[in-house]
Amino acid sequence: MKKVLSILKWTLGILALLVLALFIYVQLAWSKKYEAPLPDIKASADSAVIARGKYLAFGPSHCATCHVPMDKSMEVESGLEIPLSGGWELEIPGFGKFRAPNITPDPETGIGKLSDGELARTLRHAVGSDGRLIAPFMPYQNMSDDDVQALISFMRSQPPVKNKIEKTEWSFVAKALMAFGVMKPESPKVAPPKSLPPDTTAAYGEYLAVNVANCKGCHTRMDPNSGALVGQPFAGGNVFSDAFTKGHSMVSPNITPHPGNGVISSWDFQRFKTRMQGGRVLDYTPMPWGALSRLTDNDVKAIYAYLKSLPAVDHKIVKTDYAPGEKPPVYTNTAAGN
Ligand code: HEC
Ligand code: HEC
Repeated sequence: MKKVLSILKWTLGILALLVLALFIYVQLAWSKKYEAPLPDIKASADSAVIARGKYLAFGPSHCATCHVPMDKSMEVESGLEIPLSGGWELEIPGFGKFRAPNITPDPETGIGKLSDGELARTLRHAVGSDGRLIAPFMPYQNMSDDDVQALISFMRSQPPVKNKIEKTEWSFVAKALMAFGVMKPESPKVAPPKSLPPDTTAAYGEYLAVNVANCKGCHTRMDPNSGALVGQPFAGGNVFSDAFTKGHSMVSPNITPHPGNGVISSWDFQRFKTRMQGGRVLDYTPMPWGALSRLTDNDVKAIYAYLKSLPAVDHKIVKTDYAPGEKPPVYTNTAAGN
């Protein structure tokens, strides 16, 4: 009996030490600095470049959905254009509290002291100005050099606004995932284009839907643990249920041209254009309808051409809006190879 107790005591003692060691290791290792090149992209004072950046920021790439104070976000959705002084905050239970910083040129509380290369690296490699992993809310890794330049030029052109935003707080679990290299910054898998002049082709539509407006990220099922897009592209099935959905659970629909199961399969161009530019109807949907309502006619044409060119995926999304208390089904559609 005594022997058993002693073994038990030792085992527990060793376990406690291991837990403590893990705790200390994670606290020391999670904030490691990641290596990623500083892209050779310089801000420009050219008014056409700045205008392009502003269009992207308030329109398709919807930076303004997150980088404005929370109490202004609905006004920005319906047309207000204010400096991007930060403030959006989202708590993801188990992962942490994420805060979109002030990206006006204020030197103390904004991006005034950051270099062009550091700003470009955040967008392209998800490595922040302090060398840390930037939380994966900004999937713009494959934007063209010209569009990254336009965004940086626009950020620099804003009036500086003093608005201190507290830093993002990662949970212990998220820090452990970083410490052990499970979660790390993603660089582009292929070299991003240098320049991609807008036109109305499906190829340009693909660039917008995948690399600029993140239609793909929301409308393709994501593995909730790794964040990887594992579903059939654009076939829907992500469930959004957070502080912004006001108790509702919102499911992204299938936007492939599948007759019957793809929402836009029966829509002609006019109907698609009217919906895309029509703005926000529900104040609790995560889809950035307000930002997308600023899309130019040509960009809507390109996106339409691309979506219509996609393989039709037979994946039924029962409905997209579940009232508080209602439970959406769990979708498990998986693309070949995942
Ligand atoms: C869905 C919300 C969201 C959108 C959309 C978004 N951001 Fe962010 N952004 C964040 C969050 C959250 C952080 C902080 C991440 C962290 O602390 O890890 C951030 C951080 C940044 C940083 C800080 C980097 C640093 O080094 O300190 C810059 C610059 C930035 N975003 C620019 C942009 C630009 C430009 C766009 C549009 C092209 C954009 N963001 C779109 C949420 C967003
Ligand atoms: C942040 C996530 C998110 C992004 C980004 C996003 N969507 Fe959506 N989308 C949703 C959700 C959720 C719904 C269902 C709720 C709703 O209709 O607002 C939806 C609905 C739709 C609908 C159906 C509307 C209807 O009336 O039935 C279409 C079409 C659509 N999205 C196309 C797009 C396109 C095209 C893009 C990119 C230009 C895009 N979405 C970007 C999440 C997103």
